[in-house]
Amino acid sequence: MMILPKNMRPLLLFLVFQIAILVLFIHLYNYNPTSVREEPKPMHVLVLSSWRSGSSFVGQLFGQHPDVFYLMEPAWHVWMTFTHSTPWRLHMAVRDLIRSIFLCDMSVFDAYMTPGPRTQSSLFQWETSRALCSPPACNIFPRDMIIPQAHCKILCKKQPFEVVEKACRNYSHVVLKEVRFFNLQVLYPLLRDPSLNLHIVHLVRDPRAVFSSRERTTMELMIDSQIVMGQEQQKLKEDDQPYYVMQVICQSQLEIYKAVQTLPKALRRHYLLIRYEDLVRDPLVQTARMYEYAGLKFLPHLQTWVHNITRGKGMGRHAFHTNARDALNISQAWRWSLPYEKVSRLQKVCGNTMKLLGYGLVRSEQEQRNLSLNLLSTWTPFGQSYQED
Ligand SMILES: *[C@@H]1O[C@H](CO)[C@@H](O)[C@H](O)[C@H]1NC(C)=O
Ligand SMILES: *[C@@H]1O[C@H](CO)[C@@H](O)[C@H](O)[C@H]1NC(C)=O
Ligand SMILES: *[C@@H]1O[C@H](CO)[C@@H](O)[C@H](O)[C@H]1NC(C)=O
Ligand SMILES: *[C@@H]1O[C@H](CO)[C@@H](O)[C@H](O)[C@H]1NC(C)=O
Repeated sequence: MMILPKNMRPLLLFLVFQIAILVLFIHLYNYNPTSVREEPKPMHVLVLSSWRSGSSFVGQLFGQHPDVFYLMEPAWHVWMTFTHSTPWRLHMAVRDLIRSIFLCDMSVFDAYMTPGPRTQSSLFQWETSRALCSPPACNIFPRDMIIPQAHCKILCKKQPFEVVEKACRNYSHVVLKEVRFFNLQVLYPLLRDPSLNLHIVHLVRDPRAVFSSRERTTMELMIDSQIVMGQEQQKLKEDDQPYYVMQVICQSQLEIYKAVQTLPKALRRHYLLIRYEDLVRDPLVQTARMYEYAGLKFLPHLQTWVHNITRGKGMGRHAFHTNARDALNISQAWRWSLPYEKVSRLQKVCGNTMKLLGYGLVRSEQEQRNLSLNLLSTWTPFGQSYQED
């Protein structure tokens, strides 16, 4: 530094002080969340759910929107790399993965994929992402068209992995669907992260319907269930394991829901609870609600499409694994397919979650089988009103 005459030093100190104040003010100004940003930040939506809860359906509702870059269950890659871990040990890795993807940094997958050249088909369920089936990822389908997964899977699978990042940067909305978060605390840093604009859609479903659906997909869910149980698995009898897994899932849904109430008001606006049963009953209204929350326009071709698929027409059988009309029936199927003893046992481990989310308990086999008995309460959390038919 320059040597200054002694009498100049106070002046220099004064200048340094002034500059420091100025810097502080600029910083505070930029930090002020109400100040206008130069560029609109992308919207980041996390569809937070559990297995067999209709989250693929909700994922499609977002993924088919022409403004959305969508990925389904990217954390599958983390879990399948550490199959002897637990959800809680993997939480931080999953969170970091999600954050990187929201920021369109796909290098994060290097840790979970074999080295060497890869294509976009290295991504789990990539074909569920319309964005990976249309420009700039793949020039076969136009962007504003409803793209059938089966066609995309054949025609776009050779695209290099680099197009995933390029595509992601092309969209105003990044939507990820995840079933591998077991509390909300792990997401707090993302909710407060100034480089993100995280909005959570928490999708829940009647645990009895989830249980019934899981019974039919035990093999597919085996590794995931093993991770959910962790060390406990060895201590459990095989018959008890499904109940233990449901207990963990129900408990985590409850904790997420309760944690939201402790958030500051401004952050609570970044959370939307959706019950699968309400969506199935009234798909257009509930989809409109989710789109509005995420800042997406419910475009005319999407309205027709939602209307079509929920009446099981116009899309062919590959469009969805379940269409919503089936889903309406399926959402009640546990009432005749599950024996009452199982329902009763499940209500013991999931009862608190069910009460809080408005799923009525049955007290006898007669109540369970009586379909005129409505079990879905219209009780409203946080003043969010459920839509009635
Ligand atoms: C998005 O992709 C289209 C088509 O490839 C391109 O013309 C456009 O410039 C891209 N926009 C952005 C913001 O990257
Ligand atoms: C909706 O269904 C009608 C009649 O089957 C069909 O002509 C139309 O293309 C469908 N539209 C969409 C967007 O799925
Ligand atoms: C619901 O599904 C069951 C079993 O597949 C079937 O017997 C019943 O008729 C269906 N009900 C409706 C209203 O579609
Ligand atoms: C079924 O439930 C309805 C509505 O609660 C009730 O009125 C009816 O008596 C019940 N039927 C039987 C057979 O329990």
